[in-house]
Amino acid sequence: MARIAVDRVSMAFETDNEHRFVLKDLSLDIADGEFLTIVGLSGCGKTTLLNLIAGLLTPTSGAITVDGKPVTGPGPARAVVFQDASLLPWRSVLRNVELGVEMQKRYGKEEIRERALAHLETVGLPDFANAYPHQLSGGMRQRVNLARALIAEPDVLLMDEPFAALDAHTRESMGYELQRIWAESRKTVIFITHSADEAVTLSDRIVVMGRPPNGIIANLDVGLPRPRSMEVRGLPRFAELSLEIRELLSKAGARS
Ligand SMILES: Nc1ncnc2c1ncn2[C@@H]1O[C@H](COP(=O)(O)OP(=O)(O)OP(=O)(O)O)[C@@H](O)[C@H]1O
Ligand SMILES: [Mg+2]
Repeated sequence: MARIAVDRVSMAFETDNEHRFVLKDLSLDIADGEFLTIVGLSGCGKTTLLNLIAGLLTPTSGAITVDGKPVTGPGPARAVVFQDASLLPWRSVLRNVELGVEMQKRYGKEEIRERALAHLETVGLPDFANAYPHQLSGGMRQRVNLARALIAEPDVLLMDEPFAALDAHTRESMGYELQRIWAESRKTVIFITHSADEAVTLSDRIVVMGRPPNGIIANLDVGLPRPRSMEVRGLPRFAELSLEIRELLSKAGARS
């Protein structure tokens, strides 16, 4: 059974008294433990699709199930990581990570602290527990953001351009680290990016979306060996896939 099943989902927004479809009859299955990336032109509906899976939006028609159960709203099994690390500036790094489970009343105070420290270790920030967000670089803030998502022990990580605001070098190394965390935790990841290279580096499978409401125009299996490091970018398969994605996007963009 698919971990996540998107079944003929349509989504329309009301704008200027107009019913405009962003997604129409989109279907997509994501397997347990799969790393799936969505690429597509700006405005094609990537964030909309992610928000539907997160339960932050309700589809106009169609259904989304996680482990066979219909999504009716947000839940702790699906954590969302956005482009900007929305950390609370008055809370220390540790207290920001704790925020990820504080509302759930799942663990006692002591256990929350232990878990927060363990997750700071996972994301490579064990020495910054008592620092404040303004003392961190953008990459470090995004690591805290990731630790805050991981502490809730979600089955599914939904990541909307999480590294887009970072410089190229930090972005690439965050990608390799995310891959390590994913491999250790075996979570199901849905990742959105505008970078074809980032998509190929990280994913098992890449879904390319066309102009709205066309939905998915290509479904590409990456098939590169893991774990992947910088060298993967030198492989012919890497260049071939990256080019294919860019050509698909350019074609989709030209048809306006
Ligand atoms: N709440 C809303 N109300 C009205 N229109 C919306 C709403 N949310 C999204 N849209 C519209 O739906 C379309 C898709 O938006 P979405 O944010 O999903 O695109 P995207 O693929 O994530 O783009 P980007 O790459 O720029 O982030 C856009 O035209 C947007 O204006
Ligand atoms: Mg978006």
